[in-house]
Amino acid sequence: MERLQKVIASSGYCSRRKAEELIGKGLVTVNGETVREMGVRVGPKDEILVEGNAISKEAKEYYLLYKPRGVVTTVSDDKHRKTVVDLIPTTARIYPVGRLDYDTTGVLILTNDGTLANGLMHPKNRIDKCYVAKVNGVPDAKGLKLLQRGIVVDRMKVRASRVKMKKVDKKNNTCMIYLTIHDGRNHQVKKMLECIGSEVLKLKRESVSFLTLDGLNSGEYRRLNPKEIHKLYHEIGINQK
Ligand code: URA
Repeated sequence: MERLQKVIASSGYCSRRKAEELIGKGLVTVNGETVREMGVRVGPKDEILVEGNAISKEAKEYYLLYKPRGVVTTVSDDKHRKTVVDLIPTTARIYPVGRLDYDTTGVLILTNDGTLANGLMHPKNRIDKCYVAKVNGVPDAKGLKLLQRGIVVDRMKVRASRVKMKKVDKKNNTCMIYLTIHDGRNHQVKKMLECIGSEVLKLKRESVSFLTLDGLNSGEYRRLNPKEIHKLYHEIGINQK
């Protein structure tokens, strides 16, 4: 028997938090009865409906996408723009793990495995996310140090665990900055660099944990293999079921 919100999240229907919200709103039934309390446990024979939709134990799917520019990191877009989910032909209800901006490229994991998705997104698991940014201006050593020491972004102190500057182009007054962060606040890298006076011209996520873009061109994807999935579970400190 498992907690209702966990079963809903691991079906890929929505996140656990969203499932709790839907339960609270009385939009979930178990065997025809509306459930409003948290913590109800359900088994494989229970019939669960969320907003009228039957929850099935969908097979788990895991993808690594080389997100191109000009694609939104959502499941659907009210402005009818292309989404990252449109790039992967599957009937499974996959969704992106975290968010990359419309103009950011690079590594994006998509899955319908809520447990893994939540674990990878939770800052306590300190999953490395490595970015390379082309910036306007060349920051000094003090600015780079500040990125590692910590900068307040949206009233939260955030920092990079590694920072390196490469390819200084004195003529055009630009450079490339490599930085690794563990959390994933909205526009975090751009805001951090903005704080030290560097405007981001281009941003690419080169890796998430051990997953890189090797073998993929922009817009291409591949399935993760069982070893990689197992390793990601290990990274979030959960034994894969
Ligand atoms: N930080 C940003 O500023 N943008 C992204 O897309 C990802 C991280």
